[in-house]
This record gives sequence, C-alpha cells and structure tokens, in this order.
Amino acid sequence: MQLIRNKQGLNGTIRVPGDKSISHRSIMFGALAEGTTTVTNFLMGEDCLSTIGVFRALGVSIDVSEGKIVVQGKGWDGLQKPAETLDVGNSGTTIRLMLGILAGRSFDATIEGDASIAKRPMGRVMNPLREMGATFEAKEANFAPVKVIGTKLSPMEYTLPVASAQVKSAIIFAALQAEGETTIIEKEKTRDHTEQMIRQFGGEVEVDDLTIRVSGGQKFRGQEVVVPGDISSAAFFIVAGLIIPNSKIRLENVGINPTRTGIIDVVQAMGGRITVEKTSAVGDEPAGTITVETSELKGIEIGGDIIPRLIDELPVIALLASQATGKTVIKDAEELKVKETNRIDAVVTELSKMGVALVGTEDGMIIEGQQNLHGATVKSYGDHRMGMMLQIAALLADSGVTLENAEAVKVSYPTFFEDVASLY
Ligand code: S3P
Repeated sequence: MQLIRNKQGLNGTIRVPGDKSISHRSIMFGALAEGTTTVTNFLMGEDCLSTIGVFRALGVSIDVSEGKIVVQGKGWDGLQKPAETLDVGNSGTTIRLMLGILAGRSFDATIEGDASIAKRPMGRVMNPLREMGATFEAKEANFAPVKVIGTKLSPMEYTLPVASAQVKSAIIFAALQAEGETTIIEKEKTRDHTEQMIRQFGGEVEVDDLTIRVSGGQKFRGQEVVVPGDISSAAFFIVAGLIIPNSKIRLENVGINPTRTGIIDVVQAMGGRITVEKTSAVGDEPAGTITVETSELKGIEIGGDIIPRLIDELPVIALLASQATGKTVIKDAEELKVKETNRIDAVVTELSKMGVALVGTEDGMIIEGQQNLHGATVKSYGDHRMGMMLQIAALLADSGVTLENAEAVKVSYPTFFEDVASLY
C-alpha cells in the first residue's frame, strides 16, 4: 500500500488499542479460573484472537461482542482434549505460554503456528519445562509444531538464561500445576503481567527483585479485567510526535507498568519533550496520558537492563535515533534476532532503502543521526512492528513510500493506518 506522508505536523488525541500481553493473559487466566471473567478494552488483534481460538478448541466458552469479552472459566481440570491441532497464527506469546499450560494437563495436544512461528526458538521454553517432567514431541527438535504429552509436573529452581517474559510465564503456568514451590530467577527484570494477574485472580506469587516463587495447586476466581492501552502501540505515535515538525500528540489511557516504560526513559535521555500523567490503576497495572511534542533530540547509548523494558520498541527507536544529532548505539539486544522476524536485519535493510545510514551489530545497531528520508518500496516481513515503524518513517519521506505486506499490522493494531490519518 501507498503510505501516508506528512511533514507539516501531526496534532490530536489517540486512544491506542488494549495491551497485547495483558489481553492474552486475561483469556488464559479467565479460562483457568472458576466463574465468569469479563474483559474490557481487549485487543481485537489477530494474535489475541488466536489465543481465544486456542481456548475455544480446549472447550472454553468465550463470547466476543463489541468492546467486551466474556470467558466462562472452567478451572484447570475443565480444559478438554482438543479435537484438532491448536493454531497460534503469528503469536509467540500464545505458543510459549500454552506450552506451559498444556504440559501439566491430563491429555495430549499438538500446537503449531505460521511460517514465522515455525522458525522461532521453542527450546528456551521446552528445556526448562522438561526439567519439571514435561514431555514434548517435535519433528524438528525444539521447533513448532510441537505435540505436548500432558503429564504430572514437579517443581524446580531455575535461573533464566535469557531475559524473556514469555519463558518466565510458561514456567509460572507449569509451576501452578506442580506440587510444591517453584523458584525462578530472572536474568533481568521483564514484564510482570503474569505475576500481576495471578494476584488479581486471587492467587499468590512472591516476588523479591529477580526471584519469583510460586506454588502449585492454586485456584483462581473469575474477575473483571480492564486492559490498559498498549505502550508498545503508543510508541509509534510517541516517535511520530517527536520527529515530525509542528506536532503535538496526546495518548490517553496508555499502560505505564514500569517493566514496560523503557521508551519513556530513552526519550527523556535524548532530550525529547514528553510528559506522563498517571490517570488510573488496576492493581499494579497503572495507566496514564502521555503527551509528546516535536523536539530536538540527541543520540545516546541504549543497553543493559533497560533492554527488556523496551525490546518491542527498538525498531521505532532506531527511526527516532535517525532524527537525533549524533550517533545512537543500541546494544545487548540480540533478542531482536528471534522476534517475528530478525529485527536487526529487517530494520537495517528497510531503513537503508529509505536513505538512513545505520549498521547492524551482533547485539544491536549503530544509527547515524540527522538523516533525510527518501521514498522507496519497503516491506514488513509479515512483522506488525516493522510495518508500523515504516509508516512512521514514511511520514518524513521526501517522496512516496510503498509498503508491501502492510496487513501485518493487524496482529497488534488493526486500525493503525486510520489512527495515523486522524492526526492531520
Ligand atoms: C511478551 C514478551 C516479549 C515481547 C512480546 C510479548 C509477553 O517477548 O517481545 O511481544 O507478552 O510476554 P520475550 O519474552 O520473548 O522477550
């Protein structure tokens, strides 16, 4: 599709759709709880709809109507053996968390996804779960499709070799089915929505800095979940507002859980004009209004334990850096290589086509500042965040930009292009 260009200024207010990570977990906990769970502001993106499809195939009744999801929880033992292979589409969160949930059930189930999922590493989840007694059969060792042979699980103590909330969460779901207490030690603090939701659904989890302790045999009760807007979706507008001249954008009801706000810290360190005002909170899931204005920015170094707090925002942060003065170095971000696509290669290849001077490194990128963006034909690699980043880049281009495979944005933000168009 032909992307929108606008160097004149973006002004207005956006309410980004619900948080993807929290939406997935609301269905999972809703299904595993006893009683009814209602979810409002659920993200109706393809990934979260895949999670709904998976639980329906496991016998859970989920009603989807305008603006509200109703899950009739069945409890852990109420899940039923699926008649067919479970399909997660493009969703890494669904497949990895489901491996933890299915590992301890009393039936077998096969789970698969699209071509991107078939290439993403599952050993990081399957290996720790095997230590708990889980049994898997996979044609290609440690890649989807995977047959999960449900079995009784044992607790363990495990130190995560990667900073990954998906791996942590899969182990937590397995631990909830094991007899006794499991201890998980994180490499770096990652998003804690699973831990928050255990508490919201009436369960217990002990968190002491990087150490998480969780016991099996807990029962959850259905809840009313209100999903805040997704800061990873807001990130595209944060960057747009900062780099397009004469812009001021207000983003309402954005989730600002501290495990997710690395982009705000980066914008502040680059000298960007950004304000954050907390407006509400459900438990420890705060939400607020973020306002950004066109700013003069300076390049910085981004690395260390901030990386998990902004991992999904790095493609658009690379674009932000291209408009700063001086060089920006992104390091310690090798995880980018195993996302929906290799996001180091994809960002470098596509932004280079538009005239940006940047290079990929083993664990990140080095981006030159003050770059002029030019027209080009670019592609999303079927990766929603690549597609959205390229649309924000196109706003600044001096001639037309065509995006191939633009529909990828539906994975996390079905109305993205309409929302961009609404700002001028
Ligand atoms: C997610 C965790 C992150 C993130 C993904 C969503 C989650 O992945 O990139 O978009 O909901 O737990 P990793 O855990 O692999 O870093």
